[in-house]
Amino acid sequence: MSGIFEGKTDGTPIAGIVYNTNQKSKDYSNIKNTPRPGHGDLCWMEKYGIYDYNGGGRGSGRTTISHVIGGAIAKKLLKTQGIEIISHVVQIGDIEAKYIDYENLKGNIDKNNVKCGDLEAAKLMEELILSKKEEGDSIGGIVETIAIGVPAGLGEPVFGKLDGDLAQILMSINAVKGVEIGLGFESAKSTASEINDEFHYDENNDIKTRTNNSGGILGGMSNGMPIVSRIAVKPTPSISKVQNTVDLKKGENTTIEISGRHDPCICPRVTAVAESVTAIVLADHMIRGGFIHPTNLNKSL
Ligand SMILES: Cc1cc2nc3c(=O)[nH]c(=O)nc-3n(C[C@H](O)[C@H](O)[C@H](O)COP(=O)(O)O)c2cc1C
Repeated sequence: MSGIFEGKTDGTPIAGIVYNTNQKSKDYSNIKNTPRPGHGDLCWMEKYGIYDYNGGGRGSGRTTISHVIGGAIAKKLLKTQGIEIISHVVQIGDIEAKYIDYENLKGNIDKNNVKCGDLEAAKLMEELILSKKEEGDSIGGIVETIAIGVPAGLGEPVFGKLDGDLAQILMSINAVKGVEIGLGFESAKSTASEINDEFHYDENNDIKTRTNNSGGILGGMSNGMPIVSRIAVKPTPSISKVQNTVDLKKGENTTIEISGRHDPCICPRVTAVAESVTAIVLADHMIRGGFIHPTNLNKSL
């Protein structure tokens, strides 16, 4: 890491390098000419005439290390402003976590391998993931991200809407197939009288909403309530079950069984990425909105 000396920024650009000392390129040799169903291999071939079969290249989850490094810095910056972010798994397959309040959620997430705040559901989720692994298959799920302490007024009303920017970056995480803010797709089934977040003055005379169906964003701007997003993560495409594909060299149909170190569910890993990219967008809007002045950045960190 450069740009940081004895835990403080030194005014030079911050750069991080992560050396992958545990690569096993041979694991990927059977996908050299046979693109994996559900993965980006064939699209790379169509676009660039080549794809990186030694681990997926830019289509690999490894690329998200840069998101996490950037996010770690953004999180530090946000902490100085009292903003906290957590991501947790709320669904794996058809197993859903029950609602857990923020403080317990924070305490529970790291007590299980699945990164789920509901410890009972976490056990069932883990069993399901392991059973899919046993079958040579994989499973998807949903990751929720909550940001608290975000002031009202982040985001722009037309271009650079806060929900637009969050959706864009969350959707850019590999394997994410859907994004919702607040009630999201559920709101399509509802009436306004059921889901409008009604206002009231709280005991400190601050205006709050009684519910948070909008996920803390209205009109493209934060309203001071927690910012809540959910992403749908598809099942890891590289599985050892037999699948149909094509042999690009021979120009014929074939089958593929993918070996190597592929997670049977990537949701637990995606929590760190979702948390990081959310931090990057919020830190960016805090600076753009004048909530944090760039000349104070060194001091703040
Ligand atoms: C943290 C993380 C880890 C991943 N690990 C794997 C993996 O082990 N095997 C795999 O086939 N895909 C893995 N992926 C998913 C692929 O990167 C992704 O599915 C692929 O790029 C194509 O899907 P897309 O069109 O949804 O991006 C991972 C993704 C992330 C974010």
